[in-house]
Amino acid sequence: MERAGRRAVERVLARLAAPGEGPVHVACTPEELDKEWREPPPEEGADLADLVDRLADSALTAGMRSDHPRCFAFVPSAGTFPAVLADALGAAFLAVPGAWLVGSGATQLELVTVEWLCALLELPEGSGGLFVSGGSEANLVALTVARDSRLGGDPRGARAYCSDQAHPSVARALHILGFSRDQLVVLPADASLRLPVDELARRVAADRAAGLRPFAVVATAGTTSTGAIDPLPELAAVCRAEGLWLHTDGALGAVARISDPGRALLAGLEASDSVTVDPHKWLFQPYDIGCLLLREPGLLRDSFALTRHSLDVDAGYLSASTRPAPGDATDPVNLSDHGVQLSRGPRALKLWLSLKTFGVRAFREAVADGMRRAAHAGERIAAHPGLELTSPPSLCVVTFRHRPPGLPPGPELDAVQGHISRTVVASGDAMILPTRVRGEQVLRLCTINPRATDADVDAALDLVAAIGDQLSSGTRDSGHGPLG
Ligand SMILES: Cc1ncc(COP(=O)(O)O)c(C=O)c1O
Repeated sequence: MERAGRRAVERVLARLAAPGEGPVHVACTPEELDKEWREPPPEEGADLADLVDRLADSALTAGMRSDHPRCFAFVPSAGTFPAVLADALGAAFLAVPGAWLVGSGATQLELVTVEWLCALLELPEGSGGLFVSGGSEANLVALTVARDSRLGGDPRGARAYCSDQAHPSVARALHILGFSRDQLVVLPADASLRLPVDELARRVAADRAAGLRPFAVVATAGTTSTGAIDPLPELAAVCRAEGLWLHTDGALGAVARISDPGRALLAGLEASDSVTVDPHKWLFQPYDIGCLLLREPGLLRDSFALTRHSLDVDAGYLSASTRPAPGDATDPVNLSDHGVQLSRGPRALKLWLSLKTFGVRAFREAVADGMRRAAHAGERIAAHPGLELTSPPSLCVVTFRHRPPGLPPGPELDAVQGHISRTVVASGDAMILPTRVRGEQVLRLCTINPRATDADVDAALDLVAAIGDQLSSGTRDSGHGPLG
């Protein structure tokens, strides 16, 4: 154990000490990985330290290196060393914050860390929630509570609303909950790619007049594509007037509220009935840790308490073993009554240990720095002769495209962006993926990695421009269109 343990720690330290070493992406085909890894179940054991090396050398490095300073794809987590230790400690101590009887300490840490998040996001007194696997599950739990509290258990004629910029996990959550696709009203975003409030109010009124039952609005605080923030105060006013549940999907952007520049941008977040936060994004945690925060956390129990779903009258052995004995002064908190999981991992540990180790100020500064880096990227793109902005920097996201001289918007220009992205990824020098903005293919940077510098942004943009220029000059020479 000691030898293998030391080996694992050495590998962790080597990895974390050199985030910029090696390619940003290691492409492997299924055949290559099959060849290396597919084998019958091993009947006999092997040396643990050697196996640690084998994992670290290959399986764990195939694919994208999200902590690489030139990884600008998706919403890349950078990880922290305290979080690595917390995950290992949680596994060693088998801490389970599902029932107080089983994991009182782990439960207490989760309650405290959730309280910290509520305070940092300036949510109303009494707010609370729980950690889940990620933003997708947080949206699912939120919409479950919204349904139960606003529809009295009857989904017929119900309608939920979001913009076409909302994350697909919203539609998937409603699907899981048994709503049909037409029960989610998807409104086209306005010119700023935000949920249009007047249009929402009109549609809610029309649906009511048609005998339908509007019950929830999903706002996005930081859309995945462009970082746009839906108008939270105005949406809250509509929801208040109409008695609708306001869920804010802040998986990408809610955390910006802890920083000076992000605080004003996220004004109104506190008026949400529930908020998705995703610490494995802008709080730099390793996967997986998402979080749902609610103004009335007690509603979680109404939806999820096992006693509600128990199949026998006295709620079975779980109830018998985890409820307080008659006469006990306090009702213990069993977080398995607050969400989907019964046995659950101690996700709070890593965030707690990271916040305690570095202090909140370091996180505030790192978040502000991610926003500043997006602004820097925006300035560089605007000044670059071969590049053009397609949406302004918002939070930590900026979109842009390469614009060969004389090539108008259209399928050919879209194809250029796809070609550039594939070439950048194949080079291993940076990771930049496309997205679609107003129906057009563009390139996207997400700049949250605290280890990235302005020089990394500049290098990535220069690479895009160089590949684009090469493509255009090849085209000029051959007389064909940019992609032949
Ligand atoms: C706005 C938004 N919501 C939800 C999600 C889903 O989060 P997760 O991948 O943690 O399930 C994402 C992921 O990028 C996101 O950007």
